[in-house]
Amino acid sequence: MLASVFLCALAATLAVAQNATYDYVIAGAGTAGMLLAVVLSENPDITVCVLEAGGDGRTDTNITVPERRGTIQDTMYDWQFMTSPQPGLYPNGTEGAQPVPRGKVIGGTSAMNWMIHNTDSRVQLDIWESVLNLTGWNWDTLSTAFRESETMYAPATNESQFFKYDPAYHGSSGPIQSIFQRSVLSLFPQYLEPTLLNAGYSIPPDRNDGYAVGAGFLPLAIDPHNYTRSYSGSAYTAVQGRPNLHVLTDARVTGIDWASTSSNITAAGLRYVSDAAISNITQHVVGREVIISAGCIQSSQILELSGVGDPAILNPLGIQTVVNLTNVGEGLRDPPMMNYLPISFGVNTTFTGGEYIQNFIELESARNMLSPADYTAASEWLNSTTHIEGVRDAQLAVFKELWFAEQPLIEMAWQFAVQNVTPYNLIPLSQGNVHINSSDPLAAPVINPNYNRINATINGTEVEWDMWFLAKAAQTYETRLATNSPMNSIITSTDPQYDLPWDQYYEAVYQRTGTSEHLTGGNPMLPLEDGGVVDTQLKVYGTQNVYVVDGSIFPYQPSAHPMGLTYAVAVRAARLMQQSRGGGGLTFTEQLPGSNSSANATAVFPTQPGSLTPSVGTPAPAAYTGGAPGVMCASGSATLAAMLLALAFLA
Ligand SMILES: Cc1cc2nc3c(=O)[nH]c(=O)nc-3n(C[C@H](O)[C@H](O)[C@H](O)COP(=O)(O)OP(=O)(O)OC[C@H]3O[C@@H](n4cnc5c(N)ncnc54)[C@H](O)[C@@H]3O)c2cc1C
Ligand SMILES: *[C@@H]1O[C@H](CO)[C@@H](O)[C@H](O)[C@H]1NC(C)=O
Ligand SMILES: *[C@@H]1O[C@H](CO)[C@@H](O)[C@H](O)[C@H]1NC(C)=O
Ligand SMILES: *[C@@H]1O[C@H](CO)[C@@H](O)[C@H](O)[C@H]1NC(C)=O
Ligand SMILES: *[C@@H]1O[C@H](CO)[C@@H](O)[C@H](O)[C@H]1NC(C)=O
Ligand SMILES: *[C@@H]1O[C@H](CO)[C@@H](O)[C@H](O)[C@H]1NC(C)=O
Ligand SMILES: *[C@@H]1O[C@H](CO)[C@@H](O)[C@H](O)[C@H]1NC(C)=O
Ligand SMILES: *[C@@H]1O[C@H](CO)[C@@H](O)[C@H](O)[C@H]1NC(C)=O
Ligand SMILES: *[C@@H]1O[C@H](CO)[C@@H](O)[C@H](O)[C@H]1NC(C)=O
Ligand SMILES: *[C@@H]1O[C@H](CO)[C@@H](O)[C@H](O)[C@H]1NC(C)=O
Ligand SMILES: *[C@@H]1O[C@H](CO)[C@@H](O)[C@H](O)[C@H]1NC(C)=O
Ligand SMILES: *[C@@H]1O[C@H](CO)[C@@H](O)[C@H](O)[C@H]1NC(C)=O
Ligand SMILES: *[C@@H]1O[C@H](CO)[C@@H](O)[C@H](O)[C@H]1NC(C)=O
Repeated sequence: MLASVFLCALAATLAVAQNATYDYVIAGAGTAGMLLAVVLSENPDITVCVLEAGGDGRTDTNITVPERRGTIQDTMYDWQFMTSPQPGLYPNGTEGAQPVPRGKVIGGTSAMNWMIHNTDSRVQLDIWESVLNLTGWNWDTLSTAFRESETMYAPATNESQFFKYDPAYHGSSGPIQSIFQRSVLSLFPQYLEPTLLNAGYSIPPDRNDGYAVGAGFLPLAIDPHNYTRSYSGSAYTAVQGRPNLHVLTDARVTGIDWASTSSNITAAGLRYVSDAAISNITQHVVGREVIISAGCIQSSQILELSGVGDPAILNPLGIQTVVNLTNVGEGLRDPPMMNYLPISFGVNTTFTGGEYIQNFIELESARNMLSPADYTAASEWLNSTTHIEGVRDAQLAVFKELWFAEQPLIEMAWQFAVQNVTPYNLIPLSQGNVHINSSDPLAAPVINPNYNRINATINGTEVEWDMWFLAKAAQTYETRLATNSPMNSIITSTDPQYDLPWDQYYEAVYQRTGTSEHLTGGNPMLPLEDGGVVDTQLKVYGTQNVYVVDGSIFPYQPSAHPMGLTYAVAVRAARLMQQSRGGGGLTFTEQLPGSNSSANATAVFPTQPGSLTPSVGTPAPAAYTGGAPGVMCASGSATLAAMLLALAFLA
């Protein structure tokens, strides 16, 4: 214990000895922050320092072995947050409060997540520019940035018939490795796909091609050379020798140091303490540009602690307002997901295959997931609604646009080697916020995604919109599977029973629904008057040199799982920053779609992946178990790694 305390202290003090002025200092070595640092530091003339509150888990097999996904939740690698009570959800002993796992380690939540790696459709990303006026942010630029972040491997030839893959829409030399899964459960090709086709659903080509609606396997961020998680932590490993990139673990940012807080508001750097909390000695790192990449829970917290936010929140806490920006922390949302108990089918057959991760994801429009009568009734409500209390008008406009353009609004996730499917409401209308309620930088912020709080009047009845849509879609989909061939020939039972009366089916969905763990928002990139915190350069309004780069800047919820787009935002941010310095350092540029940009590399899996423990038939994501008090300092090998990183810092 003494040794680990000493190492934590050592790690935290070396930055002071350095006393360098970096070009960029970044708060958070997470999904976005770590990749941003990797891309920015391609240019040896640019110096980058990253401060990460957590430790270094890059050799921990609970992180690196794909089948061990989920095992770092509720450990020292997890911030273990909870939302505030949620009146819109089933109380279940916690007043509806949901766990909010977030990675606290190099790689952030990309070290913890389920590695599903996709991006949004063309219509959805073009709306950033066409409807939200975010000049330069559209499908072309974001899908290019996505491809710059990726190296995609063609499926192994013995599996290739299962995967719809077009290399034109994938990268060939980016830092995040991506593959299709290495084995396929016979449920999917033999039963599910033909049933979906008989029920009128489609099995489209590669869904990174701009049109995402339909069913099929999505890529996973896994390195095929050794079958390990590929994430921003492994992207760092590949370049960790760079002398111009310094990463400090156990360094918890407590605020922005300001050079000027008068008319020209300019940051001087970041201040931080050792996360081990053995001392509260504040240390400083100096930078020309300051980038906050602490994720959608803590980026707003760092801004508010630094005086950027709503004076009505800051004043009572004794924090002096530096920038009056009432939008900070607003627009947080979490798509509700039926994750506590998915839909399941009892079958009288045995499937083959499936000892590795299974990942068959269906993305559907509202029209494909509602009966014609329900679709019309819901469309009437949307068409007659121009303003909803608690929802920005721009958000409502986007939602309507996506609804009528038949973009994905519901996902059905088959993620287990069993006949379970988890319905998931991709874009909730309900939105909430995240704010500090203490000036103590070590206190957790108050997280309120405000689940299921927007009511609609459908066919004359007032309903809770997000749950109504989810439950209608779930019952429609379950019914179509249970009654179409060939699934109907093997199904012996359904749970919930597919033909329950509507109010009973709704109640079953309500009781099973909570977090999707896909929170985004809080610091949206939007025009200021529409709720924006950052502009199209990702610079915080009212400041000269403070930026936010992470999933908190999404202007509205993506229909894709958020990781892929988070990487794309990081790469695009790096390019914008490099351009604003005169374009230096662009070492890699993908072609736009149309040209075949991908390598012909094919996944070749190791026969003996390192200490693999397959988890066949694992149930839904680990539910929050109450959690031990946060571990304050990485111990053992993690701390040793922290020390080695700190020593590298001296070089
Ligand atoms: C269990 C789970 C499964 C998921 N599965 C998928 C999936 O399969 N596919 C997908 O696309 N998405 C998935 N997601 C969502 C996705 O992982 C996240 O949306 C994304 O990783 C968030 O990236 P970020 O950069 O915004 O934040 P993060 O990756 O969380 O990065 C924030 C970083 O900042 C650090 N930090 C925070 N505060 C401070 C501070 N004060 N000082 C210093 N450092 C600080 C954190 O420790 C962390 O390293 C999943 C999420 C969870 C929780
Ligand atoms: C360290 O940097 C700060 C801020 O730039 C400066 O005031 C101080 O003099 C420096 N200290 C040393 C020892 O160089
Ligand atoms: C990895 O996860 C397993 C299962 O949750 C746990 O028993 C084990 O202690 C973890 N290993 C480490 C090094 O944390
Ligand atoms: C986008 O710009 C147009 C034209 O200036 C304006 O009418 C519209 O309100 C803007 N939309 C948003 C969301 O700011
Ligand atoms: C897996 O292999 C890649 C490429 O060879 C390497 O960069 C990476 O460090 C390896 N990861 C682990 C956890 O061994
Ligand atoms: C604001 O301060 C920065 C940094 O000191 C300086 O580069 C910039 O020119 C100033 N801008 C204005 C408008 O004074
Ligand atoms: C550090 O500050 C926290 C509160 O911010 C306090 O609980 C703790 O006791 C302090 N630790 C030391 C060593 O002063
Ligand atoms: C902060 O800005 C908001 C609007 O942006 C305004 O209503 C409010 O009065 C301002 N508060 C202060 C203290 O200036
Ligand atoms: C609309 O309400 C009427 C009367 O209550 C009912 O008969 C009809 O089924 C409802 N339609 C839909 C789509 O809910
Ligand atoms: C609602 O508006 C859309 C787009 O203008 C239109 O296509 C649709 O037919 C309308 N639906 C109803 C039920 O009014
Ligand atoms: C929404 O409608 C439901 C009835 O379906 C009602 O119980 C609830 O109080 C309403 N919620 C809000 C926020 O108005
Ligand atoms: C499987 O169950 C289905 C539906 O109950 C039934 O029609 C079929 O005969 C069963 N097959 C076997 C082999 O038990
Ligand atoms: C209720 O909470 C417990 C854990 O406290 C969890 O295991 C269970 O899945 C939850 N059930 C529902 C329906 O939310």
